Amino acid sequence: MRIPYVDLRRANAPYQAALLEAAGKVLTDYHYVLTPPVKAFEDAFAAQHQISECVGVANGFDALKIAMKALGIKRGDKVLVPAFGFVATALAVQAVGGIPIFIDVEAHSANMDIESYSRNWEGVVGIIPVHQFGFPANMDAIMKAAETHNCWVIEDTAQAHFATYKGKTVGTIGNVGCFSFYPTKTLGAFGDAGALITNHSEIANYARAYSNYGSTARFEHTQEGENSRLDAIQAALLSVKLDFAAADFEARNQLASFYNSNLKGCKGITLPPSAADCTHAYHLYVIQTENRSSLIKTLEEAGIGSQIHYPTPVHLQGVFKSLDYKKGDFPIAERLSNTVLSLPFFIGLTEAEQSEVVTVIKNWTEKG
Ligand SMILES: Cc1ncc(COP(=O)(O)O)c(C=O)c1O
Repeated sequence: MRIPYVDLRRANAPYQAALLEAAGKVLTDYHYVLTPPVKAFEDAFAAQHQISECVGVANGFDALKIAMKALGIKRGDKVLVPAFGFVATALAVQAVGGIPIFIDVEAHSANMDIESYSRNWEGVVGIIPVHQFGFPANMDAIMKAAETHNCWVIEDTAQAHFATYKGKTVGTIGNVGCFSFYPTKTLGAFGDAGALITNHSEIANYARAYSNYGSTARFEHTQEGENSRLDAIQAALLSVKLDFAAADFEARNQLASFYNSNLKGCKGITLPPSAADCTHAYHLYVIQTENRSSLIKTLEEAGIGSQIHYPTPVHLQGVFKSLDYKKGDFPIAERLSNTVLSLPFFIGLTEAEQSEVVTVIKNWTEKG
């Protein structure tokens, strides 16, 4: 049996007819740029988050950049970001002229460990926690640190659509929540797409204008800007999938719960984090094991796909060389880069396939 690590064709199959109809409607209505499908998606996404504003943009990276611009970042301002994860968060800080300041992460969750940050707060204007793999970061501690040090908080919610932290939906806790709808994300488009949400109308107004050439009225360009508009076809397709977001969230949790209960107690395997007061969006199902290359080989031999998210910690990426970080600076982030492994995980993965993955892993651990 060949088991892919991800299969978007299967994941999107249940919505196929509605998706084709929605895309067709954009074409027949000639609704191309910043048209009713975009507004409809923004309104629905804001409503589902019980927040006043949603601004659709071209991708998650732009959402982060635009949020920082809206919060007034200036060249040389420092922003705290996790040392483990996808490069986009820190790269976005650099792209708007800021300096990413890396922080180590918690071993169990891979999320920013704000309490481990004991360095200088001078010049730090903001904190960007990432809800890694779909599990909420420690927002109480992050919001407390932000308040103490007079910083803003942008939640990088690219991987955690609709996860909850102490009863609040992530993305609604900081000043701004930024989302990616990259096709593999839990709410995935069919190309690039992103959005930011906020309760602050001045941030939303700035972001709306910024993403449309700084335009506040037709041919009036009153502020800095670029073209980062949410595409109308992507918005229409996302609206279709948004209607099923709660059911999809539940389906991913069921898939995770199968792995959780069947892999529990496997020697040498650490399972994804959980907490009584949080829900996990399970963008990915990520285990940790010291003997990763052997497990990957065993899975490969059994026809099972897997991926490493992420093999290089962010502070050691070549693009940040000038910041002078070195190996050993963030031991937990560095260890995770050597131990994390994402198992096959997508809506449509069958119980037989999950059982096969579990059997192969169990046999591998028993051989030890
Ligand atoms: C944590 C995180 N932040 C930001 C991004 C950037 O999103 P996009 O690829 O839509 O630009 C991604 C994913 O791609 C991500 O995983």
